[in-house]
Amino acid sequence: MTDALKLGFSPFAGPAKGVLVVFCDDGLEFGSATQRALGAASETVARAAAAERFTGKKNSTLELVVPPGLRATRLVVIGVGKIAELKPIDFIRLGGFSAGKLPGAASDATVFAELPGGAMKPEQAASLAQGVRLRAYAFDRYKTKRKDDERPPKTRNVTIAVDDVAAIRKAYVPRSAITDGVLLARDLVNEPANVLYPEEFARRTLALKKLRVAVEVLDVRAMKKLGMNALLGVGQGSSHQSRVVVMRWNGGRAGEAPVAFIGKGVCFDTGGISIKPAASMEDMKGDMAGAACVVGLMHALAARKARVNAVGLIGLVENMPDGNAQRPGDIVKSMSGQTIEIINTDAEGRLVLADVIWYAAQRFKPKFMIDLATLTGAIIVALGQEYAGMFSNNNQLAERLSKAGLETGELVWRMPLAPEYDKMIDSKFADMKNTGGSRWGGAITAAQFIKRFVDDKTPWAHVDIAGTGFDSRQTDINKSWGSGWGVRLLNRLVEDSYER
Ligand code: BES
Ligand code: MN
Ligand code: ZN
Repeated sequence: MTDALKLGFSPFAGPAKGVLVVFCDDGLEFGSATQRALGAASETVARAAAAERFTGKKNSTLELVVPPGLRATRLVVIGVGKIAELKPIDFIRLGGFSAGKLPGAASDATVFAELPGGAMKPEQAASLAQGVRLRAYAFDRYKTKRKDDERPPKTRNVTIAVDDVAAIRKAYVPRSAITDGVLLARDLVNEPANVLYPEEFARRTLALKKLRVAVEVLDVRAMKKLGMNALLGVGQGSSHQSRVVVMRWNGGRAGEAPVAFIGKGVCFDTGGISIKPAASMEDMKGDMAGAACVVGLMHALAARKARVNAVGLIGLVENMPDGNAQRPGDIVKSMSGQTIEIINTDAEGRLVLADVIWYAAQRFKPKFMIDLATLTGAIIVALGQEYAGMFSNNNQLAERLSKAGLETGELVWRMPLAPEYDKMIDSKFADMKNTGGSRWGGAITAAQFIKRFVDDKTPWAHVDIAGTGFDSRQTDINKSWGSGWGVRLLNRLVEDSYER
């Protein structure tokens, strides 16, 4: 994990060195501790604000270099708009926004967790700190050549100044666990496929054992025995062997059915024999973002000791064209016993999910199942990069996911399932085919395919993250290609459903 950031908490008192970040509202009001810290510099701030017509609007900044009377070398005043309108998620964003205002070379910074109305509450200050870390993440482990002036400091000390250090440290513990999970997921998505192939991905999940997650790795032999031929067919053209990883966290009542999370882990998707065009094919190293999210989530749940029983299962394969690769027209028998005619070897994610979802349901009888997958380009056509597509056989689960989305900013939009779409994947030769006849409604026919491997009594949701898992919109809290999308969403779903 690239974490050159050293985050700490300290009381408001004491002169800040380096960069000082403070907040004001749209009336240019500051909190009392902030005013004390600014001291005589307040007057300079007022003059600079007037000169630059800075009014403290949300997401506006006023910067002063070497502000007179302060030990700080730079003062950044950030407007937060109207205090009454700030929602919990805004504090994470504010942390990200603040971190984004630190100059690249700065090695010390202090952020005042105070608003005009008073010190931020522990939850708010902890969110602020979380936002700083999410923003500061950069995947730069393969950069060996940097000009001196581009080189970031080895460590960057960011101090969050607060009123009650102990209370905020406590509130930050679970936030830090969740953030670690997000950054872990980002790292996995960002890794190139020559480094992160199925076996290596599986090996990295073993680190979860330190957090008391039980980790099992199924190899090809074990999968053959189980009859996971849909998954194995996808991986058979690769020189890298396929794997399934099962992760279990038991933080809930003993014997209580778990919730299950299932991730598509196509470490690289060339399309197989139905090969993809060259343009942007390099992005397909991120076709394991669903699996990365599940691993990041398991990390988050275990590290914060969530009071829930949860299982995470990921199907890890590489989709390659080769003499041994699966062909269009091939028919495979899935673990469920249903047969599938392969029409397009590039519709591989659903084949992987079919077996892993079936296996998860049989083995764990979960309370609900949620799968995550960078499944279709069609979902990007439908929703762009703002919302992930969500499909569900259960209204309560769908509503909970939508709500968690609004709370975390990881938005999901519910898409339809219906028999009319299901018909489109009936096959002449087998029980079903792996693509619909046309590209229209491609995200829906993919979801319908997966639904055939879910029994109607298990609440299930499928989240298509092709538009959000990587190369997604850059935000105040994410400047990384691999976004780690979904870790905060699903963590929140667990919190809201089982821990309140
Ligand atoms: N991994 C891709 C989907 C994808 C595309 C994710 C672009 C992120 C960005 C998936 O395996 C795929 O190739 N889907 C095909 C399905 C088609 C062959 C029915 C697609 O979307 O074109
Ligand atoms: Mn594909
Ligand atoms: Zn794929």
